[in-house]
Amino acid sequence: MITTNNLTKIFHDSKRGEIRAVDSVSIECRPGRVFGLLGLNGAGKTTLMRLLSTILKPTSGTASIAGYDILNEPEKVKERIGFLSSSTGLYPRLTAEETVSYFGRLNGMDNLKLKRRLDDMFERFGMNEFRKRRIDKLSSGMKQKVSIARTFINDPEVLILDEPTLGLDVVTSRNIIGFIKESKQANKCLLFSTHVMWEAQKLCDDIAIIHQGRILEVGTLDQLRTKTGMIDLDDIFVKIIDGASQHEF
Ligand SMILES: Nc1ncnc2c1ncn2[C@@H]1O[C@H](COP(=O)(O)OP(=O)(O)OP(=O)(O)O)[C@@H](O)[C@H]1O
Ligand SMILES: [Mg+2]
Repeated sequence: MITTNNLTKIFHDSKRGEIRAVDSVSIECRPGRVFGLLGLNGAGKTTLMRLLSTILKPTSGTASIAGYDILNEPEKVKERIGFLSSSTGLYPRLTAEETVSYFGRLNGMDNLKLKRRLDDMFERFGMNEFRKRRIDKLSSGMKQKVSIARTFINDPEVLILDEPTLGLDVVTSRNIIGFIKESKQANKCLLFSTHVMWEAQKLCDDIAIIHQGRILEVGTLDQLRTKTGMIDLDDIFVKIIDGASQHEF
C-alpha cells in the first residue's frame, strides 16, 4: 500500500552543507498493519512522511501509495492519504467543528456522512466541550485533537501520522492509540512515528529504526528481539542506534 524504493532527499544548507535527510529508504507498509518509524531527533522521519504526502519532492528514488506514484500522480496520492503533520497550521479563526467539517467537504463528503463521522469523533476524543470554540482559544492538546479529527474525517485508506500523541494527556493518548488500532482492523494502512516506545510496542506490526536518514533495521518486534537479544523496545532501539554509531568512529 505504501512502497518506497531507494527514496532519497538531500537538503542543501549554506551552513551545514549537504544533508541526507532521507537516504535510500526502501520500505513496504501493508494494509491492515501499523508500520512504526522510530528514530532520534533529526533522523529523517518527518522528511520521509513529507515525501510520501507529496509536500516535498524526492532528490532520487521512487514511492507509490495505493499503486499511485508520488511524482507522476500526486493528486491521486493526496486523495488516498490522511496526513497528520506536526507543522500543519490550523486556521485560528475557525472553530474546532468548522475546521473538521471544512476538510470533510473539501474531500467531497456529503453532509449526512460528514455529520455522523464528525459527531462520532468529537464524542470519542472528548471534543464536544470545545466544539464551537475558535482554534486560537484552544490548548495545544485540544488543537492536536482537532488535527487528528481532520486527518481521519474522510476515512482515508492510507494514514501517515507524524507523532500523533505529541502533547496529549494519558487518557487522550490511549484513546488515539485505540482509534489507530480500529483503523488497522478496518484494513487501513498506517505509517506512524513516535518517541514513545510503549506506544510503538503496543501498536506496531512492523518497526523500522531510522538513523541519519537510513533504515538500520526493519522487522516485527519479535524479529528485532531475536536480532538484538533484548526484550523491550527501548533497549532494542538503543542497541541498534549504538551499534550504528560505533561503526561511524
Ligand atoms: N527544509 C529543510 N532544509 C534543510 N534541512 C532540513 C529541512 N528539513 C529537515 N532538515 C534536516 O533533515 C534532517 C531530518 O529532519 P526530520 O525533521 O526529518 O527529522 P525527524 O526524524 O522528524 O526528527 P524529530 O524526531 O525531531 O521530529 C535534520 O538534519 C533536519 O535538520
Ligand atoms: Mg519529526
